[in-house]
Amino acid sequence: MNGSYGQVSRRLFVTGLFATAATAALPVGTGAARPRTQVLRAKPAKVSIGARTVSTWTYDGRLPGPRIEATAGGVVRARLVNDLPAATTVHWHGIRLDARMDGAPGYTQKPVPPGGTFDYAFTTPDPGTYFYHSHVGMQNDRGLYGTLIVTDPHEPLGYDQEFTVVLDDWLDGMIGTPDDALRRLNASTAHDDTLRSDLLGGVTAELRHPYYLVNGRAAEAPEVFESKPGRLVRLRIINAAADTAFRVALGGHRLGVTHTDGFPCAPLTVDTILIGMGERYDVLVRLGDGAFPLVAEAEGKGARAFAIVRTSRKAGAPRSGVRLSELSGRRLTYADLNARRADRLPRPSRSVTVTLGMRPSGNEWTMNDRLAADPMRLRVERGETIRIVLDNQSPMWHPMHLHGHTFQVRTSSGPQGPRKDTVNVLPRERLNIDVHADNPGEWMFHCHNLYHQEQGMMGTLGYGPAKRAMKH
Ligand code: C2O
Ligand code: CU
Repeated sequence: MNGSYGQVSRRLFVTGLFATAATAALPVGTGAARPRTQVLRAKPAKVSIGARTVSTWTYDGRLPGPRIEATAGGVVRARLVNDLPAATTVHWHGIRLDARMDGAPGYTQKPVPPGGTFDYAFTTPDPGTYFYHSHVGMQNDRGLYGTLIVTDPHEPLGYDQEFTVVLDDWLDGMIGTPDDALRRLNASTAHDDTLRSDLLGGVTAELRHPYYLVNGRAAEAPEVFESKPGRLVRLRIINAAADTAFRVALGGHRLGVTHTDGFPCAPLTVDTILIGMGERYDVLVRLGDGAFPLVAEAEGKGARAFAIVRTSRKAGAPRSGVRLSELSGRRLTYADLNARRADRLPRPSRSVTVTLGMRPSGNEWTMNDRLAADPMRLRVERGETIRIVLDNQSPMWHPMHLHGHTFQVRTSSGPQGPRKDTVNVLPRERLNIDVHADNPGEWMFHCHNLYHQEQGMMGTLGYGPAKRAMKH
């Protein structure tokens, strides 16, 4: 596309980790192929999680739902068929798409009633790692999510193989439904003080999920990624959980970070990555010879998601409880990440503050003191760039997600900062994000902790004067 892509891959090649990077890129979509329509049938199904079988809601009876692959600049066509007993939508998380296809109930479409269908069709302008999920109520904490991978017809990274790693926290069918869990939280004012993480500045989550999953699988019957020694592998890591940040590491390996939230960043090598709900990271790893634990610690919860990366049949399988020094090694921070030159945004012409707050009840979360029922609205004009100061005055961290745009995070130490669509804001932290208003519409801007979202932490970013809200 331009010089900075080339620069990214060159710099990867000169670091030790990537010293003998394979030159054969993966075959990518041809771009010429006619997009077929992917049917997404939202329906109740039984799924096996570890030793248990539970009833939940899925796409096509699968967990995660079907993988959707598109080419940058190409079109995704997906027909949602609603076989659930409740209305639903599909949201294409992170995609800079036509607002009418955003799947935001009450904003961009009416939820699709039971028995109904809806045809989504949109262009995917930017390559990268994305996912899709229901955007109605607590449905995303059931099984209603899947991966959306947008390949680059001119993929600049050379690698041999790729794996998608979808992280989730699971309670549906085990301790009631997510709606039951939300009701319990709404009935109490206390937070579980034992869910603590220094990394996330104190109490870190609303509740314990009984299971933490990689690609729908529990540690007791883990996902196994098969490869060969010496291969350079791209891991696409997606946090689809409702209430869990994960600290990810691969035993015996370092992680060469290449992208966050779909966008390339100047590559660097770390031991572990903290990934909030809604965030994605792509990393390159040159695999050793053996069977290696891929661990995602449920931060502050004393539990983990676990999978195995295996390049040798002779190696014994690692145990899920294995200690990993990588988990306490060099951890990626936003200050480490920089967008490539072509992705840097213009200087903002003005700044607005969004205060993240908690009502004294302890179970209502606000943006500029307002709740979702009467949401805060940031007004922008097309073409301008604004700075949003995310001022977290609440005692919990929030992974804030903006629909339809990718903003640039401006950390105090990093001069450039990464392009992202979801950013973790720690308690008492002020974090600046710059947004270029280039995609007209009425867009959700909310906390991707699903419980916080349903307890009010949902605002909007809209172009021009406010229009009358859509009727549900
Ligand atoms: Cu995954 Cu409104 O978002
Ligand atoms: Cu939150």
